[in-house]
Amino acid sequence: MSLLFACLLLIGEARQKSVPVKPLSAPPIRYFEDHCARCHGSFGAFYGEEFGKDLSDEKLQEVVKMMAEGPAGAPIQGESLSAQVAFHRALIRKEPFVAWTGRSATELWGEVTENAKVQVRFGKRLQAASVKGSEWRVKVPPQANAQTAQVIATWKGKQTTLLLQQSAYSHSR
Ligand code: HEC
Repeated sequence: MSLLFACLLLIGEARQKSVPVKPLSAPPIRYFEDHCARCHGSFGAFYGEEFGKDLSDEKLQEVVKMMAEGPAGAPIQGESLSAQVAFHRALIRKEPFVAWTGRSATELWGEVTENAKVQVRFGKRLQAASVKGSEWRVKVPPQANAQTAQVIATWKGKQTTLLLQQSAYSHSR
């Protein structure tokens, strides 16, 4: 039995190493602003202070999926659905949400809660990102490994750190 577990662990680790995280192909904040904000306000402003009090995590996933298919008329599934649910977790917890949505040889970029401050850690080096609206963008220092970068968003005294090695968006749980 323990041998079986050891094997499964090894397989799990091998998988993690062989499949690097990719940037999100569909930016979740843009999706929300395009398809949900007309009823729920920009960044969910109309959800209200009490939002999430009566929503379990399962219920939240269910509602987001149903809303996307129903009133929004823009069904989402898989990673796009998970990222949208994650964005809602951040809204409920009143924490900055951050996502990674693209890269080039010299830059990384993504989305963040409006008016958040964003810094990106490449090894020992902390680099300030520029933020315009809900988009952040940062230069990758020469020789830095973008795949192991940490994106740190600060907003209203709260901080969210996204490890690009683990996920392309924060609040995945
Ligand atoms: C045409 C208007 C409309 C659009 C577009 C819309 N919604 Fe809704 N949404 C509602 C209404 C109305 C309710 C309240 C329904 C209820 O409580 O029975 C609701 C409820 C919700 C709730 C639960 C709120 C709570 O306080 O429990 C969530 C979460 C939600 N919507 C997410 C979304 C998402 C995500 C989108 C975009 C994919 C979206 N909605 C698009 C009208 C809309």
